[in-house]
Amino acid sequence: MNITGEEDRIDRESFGRALKTEKFGRNLIYYEQIDSTNAEVKRLLKGDGRTEGTHREAWHGSLVLAEEQTRGRGRLGREWSSPKEGGIWMSFLIEPRLPAESCPMLTLVAAMAVRAAIKEITGLEAAIKWPNDIVIEGRKVCGILTEMAGMSEGFPEIILGIGINGNRRAFPAELKEVATSLALEKGRDIDRGLLIAEVCNSLEKYFLIFEKAGDLAPLKAEYEEYLVNRGRLVRILAEGEEYTGTALGINEQGALLVEREDKSIDTIISGEVSVRGVLGYT
Ligand code: BTN
Repeated sequence: MNITGEEDRIDRESFGRALKTEKFGRNLIYYEQIDSTNAEVKRLLKGDGRTEGTHREAWHGSLVLAEEQTRGRGRLGREWSSPKEGGIWMSFLIEPRLPAESCPMLTLVAAMAVRAAIKEITGLEAAIKWPNDIVIEGRKVCGILTEMAGMSEGFPEIILGIGINGNRRAFPAELKEVATSLALEKGRDIDRGLLIAEVCNSLEKYFLIFEKAGDLAPLKAEYEEYLVNRGRLVRILAEGEEYTGTALGINEQGALLVEREDKSIDTIISGEVSVRGVLGYT
């Protein structure tokens, strides 16, 4: 339901009108309800999706979108709350012409693309919490989960899952302090179809820059401009170790550079590490 009590559905006409890409979002697979859009991309790759057929049903740029996920997944094995309440739960299949080792960088590229799309459509100033959370006023509006499905013709098949709290108004108790939505920040509902199309437009643009370069060199300065942790004290929670340092920025591979008290600099690679602000989530 939206604020006026009507059923709020993603407006696919609005999406189609605003889509300017060559590939991203052109093959759109839409569900009212699915377990996880990431899991569905994986099935589609095997010709095993909920749509008909036994052939491969997803290719580079394909987008799976759902109004609700019953088993939404987050980073580090966490659950991702994804009710039928104005969320944007979507996953792209991306097949970069790059070695598999380069693919974790895609998650930072996606964060930049989503941040830019949010600004373009809503005017809201969002920031990036390394590596790929999008935050507004210290609260999370978007999370990104990148998974590798396999290899095809020598190139990796990447599933890029993006969860945006679009028109969501309520959060479970444990998320209230750390999460927000675009509608709550804006004070009115947003056109989710339009935002999804802009995410496709923006993602294709940033992706092509990244794919050509093979690393984040051409995007690093912009990423750092919006990096909420930059210059701040952060707590690093790694396996068997927890310490505080100052986040300096990223390197061209997307690792976070953290200066310890003794002035030595650590290169933090995403995956197994959590980064928190000293006073809270950011
Ligand atoms: C995080 O932990 O911050 C990442 C959350 C990613 C959630 C999205 S929603 C669409 C896609 N499908 C999933 O099951 N997860 C991702």
